Amino acid sequence: MNTTRTVQDEILRLKKEHDIRILAHAYQSQEILEIADDVGDSYGLSLKAQTAEQHTILLCGVRFMAETVKILSPDKKVLLSHPQAGCPMAEQISVNELAALKEAYKGYTVAAYINTTSELKTLCDVCVTSSSAVKIIRSLENKNILFVPDCNLGAWVAKQVPEKNIQLVKGGCPAHASIRAAQAKQALALHPGAKLLVHPECLPEVSSLADYAGSTTGIMDYAKNSTAAAFIIGTENSIIEHLQFACPDKQFYPLSPECICSNMKLTTLMDVLHCVQGTAGEEIVLPDTVMEQARRCIDTMLTLGAS
Ligand code: 13P
Ligand code: SF4
Repeated sequence: MNTTRTVQDEILRLKKEHDIRILAHAYQSQEILEIADDVGDSYGLSLKAQTAEQHTILLCGVRFMAETVKILSPDKKVLLSHPQAGCPMAEQISVNELAALKEAYKGYTVAAYINTTSELKTLCDVCVTSSSAVKIIRSLENKNILFVPDCNLGAWVAKQVPEKNIQLVKGGCPAHASIRAAQAKQALALHPGAKLLVHPECLPEVSSLADYAGSTTGIMDYAKNSTAAAFIIGTENSIIEHLQFACPDKQFYPLSPECICSNMKLTTLMDVLHCVQGTAGEEIVLPDTVMEQARRCIDTMLTLGAS
């Protein structure tokens, strides 16, 4: 009979045998993180995608992440762990809608959250992630920025970079944007002394109550390095379990029990096993023109993010 451990051991054996690197987003389950070569936020995974030596990369996460890996490693075989794992935010603005927005905001630099399709990225000047957005937007020459599609992340950036004129559009993550400020106030009252850590995809009125707002990796690093004993976590709730493993002596409370990304939850450990066995997963194939054009804004992100 299979157990978690025997399945993990078989994955570790097969990924070595078939020269596969496993990249897992921090929202994946603990049992998947344990067999991954790299775990991180969207920015961290992009960096790993550039330097991976293996012939095949298996991305455990959602589609836009696997597409980013493919664009950065066009000669490699890139697999998405579950074909239905997409980020709903990535579909919120179509290419035609963005083309119309560009007409309306001529002369603006178009900054796209990395949670977008590759097609949309072909129309953008620069990509950003939650961990790199402030630095990148601040370093742009143009004062006028059109920021798509997450208006909550965009508002969080705008607050920290007041010298820029940032035009936001309506869009965002359904899971994070469902959290209300009243929930944050209630949680803080219930757990006095606990630090409130949130992802900037939360509403501005939630982020403004937080002790720290940042990427999934940023939240985990803050909790690990803090001397505080308790934390209220305002992001996908898988992060709570990971933090409980990493910091068994600290307390972690969900800001909202509903902050669950059903797409991130689609991939199971058995899916990963079937992917390394070669019977599951979707190979990412993108038209050459899309890869070339979308790469420009991803490369700009990596250049500005590193400088
Ligand atoms: P990070 O880049 O912070 O990992 O965020 C990705 C994401 O989709 C959060 O919902
Ligand atoms: Fe997309 Fe939200 Fe899921 Fe992140 S948590 S992948 S933004 S739906």
